[in-house]
Amino acid sequence: MDPAKRASVGIRLEEQVKDWLRYGDELELGPYYRDRAPLHQPSEPASIETAESAPVQMAAAAVVRRAPGAALSTASAPKSAPSPKSAPAAAPAIVAPTSPPSLFESIDRIVDDTLPRIREDIGDCTRCKLHKGRTNIVFGVGNPKAELMFVGEGPGHDEDIKGEPFVGRAGKLLTQMIEAMSLRREDVYIANVVKCRPPENRLPEKDEITTCSPFLMRQIDVIKPKVVCCLGSCAAQTLLRTTQGISRFRGEWFDFRGAKLIATYHPAYLLRNPPAKSEVWKDLQKVMAVLGLQPRKR
Ligand code: URA
Repeated sequence: MDPAKRASVGIRLEEQVKDWLRYGDELELGPYYRDRAPLHQPSEPASIETAESAPVQMAAAAVVRRAPGAALSTASAPKSAPSPKSAPAAAPAIVAPTSPPSLFESIDRIVDDTLPRIREDIGDCTRCKLHKGRTNIVFGVGNPKAELMFVGEGPGHDEDIKGEPFVGRAGKLLTQMIEAMSLRREDVYIANVVKCRPPENRLPEKDEITTCSPFLMRQIDVIKPKVVCCLGSCAAQTLLRTTQGISRFRGEWFDFRGAKLIATYHPAYLLRNPPAKSEVWKDLQKVMAVLGLQPRKR
């Protein structure tokens, strides 16, 4: 194509894109093209946002979740999100990448990636400020071919010392939960959104999550679990790219990078709020149904 013609095609394309953006603005789809809002609520379960206070925002690569009930054909099909009185009539949708991976996700994937290579790429990481206070990078642990992967928030004190996720009080509870599902800890894979301990056990901040979560995505892509179980808001909001409180979508199924994803409460929350254990057990039973597991006989 001669340069003049190419330039005129370029200008036409630019005009088309501008038209689309204008159209998106008119439809109030602005957040499609912007960064996400801060991710986390201070406690769990997080409060329910209204459309005004915290609209769900999508990254460009994500696609709207399927209609409730349409995502899976298993016995544990998803229920629709609860619609508490305070919620707006049309609650904003949770967003999850579709399965199989979208074009964007496929581009993200690294061919022939391995867990050792990911660990090597992390190296003695100084990419974010969390490195300053860490003792050990907590990469992840478990069966590299696990059908079930748990994703937590970030290492606490015990994990930082030992270099292994979920080894403190919350970890002991997680191990009990895994065993109640008739699995052993070494059958599953356990990782966190951030690999270094946040100071004073604060929530990981947005820049830390943005820096570290690509390694988690790679871990998920290598392990290829059937089910990803997010433990708590941080993991769920990060993977689902939503700002909605976990109580809005806990126990529902989503498609995620070729896996089924479910979010449940964090074991640390259960330590503070034991009655929520029954809700978590319901979620884990859904996971067991998908994986064909029977509860452990006592
Ligand atoms: N909480 C987490 O989210 N991850 C851990 O590894 C330990 C506690």
